[in-house]
Amino acid sequence: MTSKELRQKYLEFFKAKGHTIIPSASLIPENDPTVLFTTAGMHPLAPYLMGEKHPGGRRLASAQKCIRTGDIDEVGNPTHHTFFEMLGNWSLGDYFKKEAIELSWEFLTSPAWLGLDKNRLAVSVFKGDSDAPFDQEAHDIWKNIIGVPEEKIARLPKKNNWWGPAGLTGPCGPDTEMFYWAGEADKIPASFNDDNPLWIEIWNDVFMQYNKTAAGTYEPLKQKNVDTGLGLERILAVINGYGDDYKTDLFKNIISRIERLSNKAYGTDQEITKAMRIIADHLKAATFIMGDDRGVAPSNLGQGYVVRRLIRRAIRYGRQLGIKEESWTKEIAKVVAHDYQEVYPELRRNINKVIEQLTEEEAKFKKTLELGLKEFEKLGVEGKISGNQAFNLYQTYGFPLEIIEELAKEKSLTVDAAAFAKELEKHQKLSRTASAGMFKGGLADASEATVKYHTAAHLLLAALRKVLGDQVIQKGSNITAERLRFDFAHPGKMSDEEKQKAEELVNGAIKQDLPVTGEELTLNQARTKGAHGIFDAKYGEKVTVYTIGDETLYFSKEICGGPHVEHTGILGHFKIQKEESSSAGVRRIKAILE
Ligand code: ALA
Repeated sequence: MTSKELRQKYLEFFKAKGHTIIPSASLIPENDPTVLFTTAGMHPLAPYLMGEKHPGGRRLASAQKCIRTGDIDEVGNPTHHTFFEMLGNWSLGDYFKKEAIELSWEFLTSPAWLGLDKNRLAVSVFKGDSDAPFDQEAHDIWKNIIGVPEEKIARLPKKNNWWGPAGLTGPCGPDTEMFYWAGEADKIPASFNDDNPLWIEIWNDVFMQYNKTAAGTYEPLKQKNVDTGLGLERILAVINGYGDDYKTDLFKNIISRIERLSNKAYGTDQEITKAMRIIADHLKAATFIMGDDRGVAPSNLGQGYVVRRLIRRAIRYGRQLGIKEESWTKEIAKVVAHDYQEVYPELRRNINKVIEQLTEEEAKFKKTLELGLKEFEKLGVEGKISGNQAFNLYQTYGFPLEIIEELAKEKSLTVDAAAFAKELEKHQKLSRTASAGMFKGGLADASEATVKYHTAAHLLLAALRKVLGDQVIQKGSNITAERLRFDFAHPGKMSDEEKQKAEELVNGAIKQDLPVTGEELTLNQARTKGAHGIFDAKYGEKVTVYTIGDETLYFSKEICGGPHVEHTGILGHFKIQKEESSSAGVRRIKAILE
């Protein structure tokens, strides 16, 4: 089966089951400043999972382009990617566990759809803890209605079988995951063991049945939702019996192009295969990020830095494969755009921009790559790379930290990453002060300006909550070097006094020159400390909390990926230019720093 057929089959199946097919949203989230990329199909749907009415109704399905960088170290094996497509179906307060599980099972096993061998499938359900009980209902549906044997129904903890909430508080719940035995047919184990990598996770059905409260308790939710996700690359490899996502048509042409460029063959040697997978994944991801209609170019900031790291890492592996061509990364982008243009026409629209940005980034990195590698060879006489040395490779030769760490590993050296982080911080402080000076002189540094607006957005949200009440939540923000656009939930127009008060509060916080500090916390710690924010993290993942002001007497405390200025005094004067309706129940403020 081809990827095109599979995507169509999935959407056709759910359409036949009463779902509205919705298009893929942008990879760059418009309504969530706390994450860099869209990481799941549910992401753009967050407001509807919270109860807002979706124009498509209560049953939805989509194929969503996603980026996840959390598993970047695993890329190189047969099943991990930073870019992937998620097939998903949703029930917004409509069907729940029984129908969701039946739908998943029918699609996977019915000969009319995927027709997978039932013996090769196993599942897991939430085993229960002090927050929420064992998911007996899901277990019983699998066992008694579907007929999965007890040994193939694993009971696992939150780490494995829980999703959400999308924000600090809000809808979340246990999930049930489906696994496929990718090993030989005569070796299918009688019981399921999630430690065995031949059991591949293919589908996740999340049952959003709890509301996590600010006090950290889980209360039953009125609107019970279903949120599911099925990885296209993995399921395609499974159906075709490849045992390797990179052998599917979603990678085939990309890998062939890398084979031709390097004059080496995929699958012949472990190191070669790994390098080819990393190049294919990273350059595909970079092409999708740059080629999005809200595309981002390589830079040293936020999403741009992710693109830069992906491209540079791919170039380093290209060198390892012996690719000699002057400017080759664009060749891969052309294949990606060609192969995906029917499903994601924006790639065709934006391909010239992608080629330009790749060519420029490649030239920039290659200028210093050889010199940096020579420099690297001189290091590590004492068995380690110091923070200073690592920072020099970063600063002078443009090596992202993970490249330094990989090079070190190849030579059995360690890198002092903590000292590197300190050096980086010290440097950023200096350059911020320097460009703040330039800013005043009229030489606006665009990235510096956006960082300021980012901090201003935190101040504005805190001010709005103080003026209008704690129920105000952020619905979105859009920042350019010239202005801030900020959407928030509020039923009516703000009065002139309210606007003035909010403005005064923000300017008051700027005048006080409050410190802005970021710290890494677990979700629980963040909640205990009263942090505010919408984010999408798997349970147990760490988040960064930015505090503006004193640790206890703070002005604002929000979960956010940064970056921010270090002191509010640098922001200048804050001015609200406009307050207007954005959509039902959502207001929009346009503001500037002058
Ligand atoms: N949101 C769920 C996931 O990403 C379906 O696994």
